[in-house]
Amino acid sequence: MDVAPRIVVLTGAGVSAESGLQTFRSADGLWYSHRITDVATPEGFARDPALVHRFYDQRRADALAAVPNAAHRALARLERDVDPGLAIVTQNVDDLHERAGSSHVIHLHGELNSALCTACGSRLRWTATLGDRPPCPECGSRTLRPDIVWFGEAVYHLDAIEAATRACETFAVVGTSGVVYPAAGLAALARAHGARTVLLNLEAQDGGFGYDEVRLGPASEVVPAWVDEQGEP
Ligand code: APR
Ligand code: ZN
Repeated sequence: MDVAPRIVVLTGAGVSAESGLQTFRSADGLWYSHRITDVATPEGFARDPALVHRFYDQRRADALAAVPNAAHRALARLERDVDPGLAIVTQNVDDLHERAGSSHVIHLHGELNSALCTACGSRLRWTATLGDRPPCPECGSRTLRPDIVWFGEAVYHLDAIEAATRACETFAVVGTSGVVYPAAGLAALARAHGARTVLLNLEAQDGGFGYDEVRLGPASEVVPAWVDEQGEP
């Protein structure tokens, strides 16, 4: 039964940092060791598919080996104990929210554990590599790509995400630098529809959006502490 969410939580790479997965724009971030144009654009994939597959095959393996941390687990508890309609809108492509027990996770930027066939359009659950150009189980072509939204491509599920954002009472933002749209505009959309906005992040965001509540620190600490207070009358 689809229950309208009272709480929507937008997450970014920072929520998975303490599970050992790299963020993008922190000091040792992925965008300091890889050029976005090479590994996160359709043009880069057309130019050198093997390089792009190596990049995502490694991230898929890293994500499979990672373990949900206390922040992921606290958000699953928030759904179980406080808001059964809780929607997690994640920019992340790992499945740590799902593995922590969250049941309504919307992947705005796609998922590592999904492959997209460029020949027949099938989306396939995929935890193996793609660099060895395996055949599509549906059509046999060897043109599977990571089911990841690259720069210049349309994000996934935006209508559902904006509907949940407009409807919620509380919009919490966890572990994101807030520089990539449309995700970065969701807190303002929530506020425009009367929601209370909360930032739970290691550091303040540059964007200057004035959250109603800001708690700075590692997600594994600030998220469980915030969740503990949500059930209180
Ligand atoms: N706990 C909480 N927040 C953290 C932690 C932590 N342990 N470690 C880092 N952070 C915060 C950083 O302060 C930063 O604000 O997480 C944020 C990470 O920002 P980015 O690296 O820019 O990641 P994200 O915001 O998710 O990037 C958005 O950009 O390149 C695209 O598609 C990619 O989905 C990604 C999008
Ligand atoms: Zn196919």
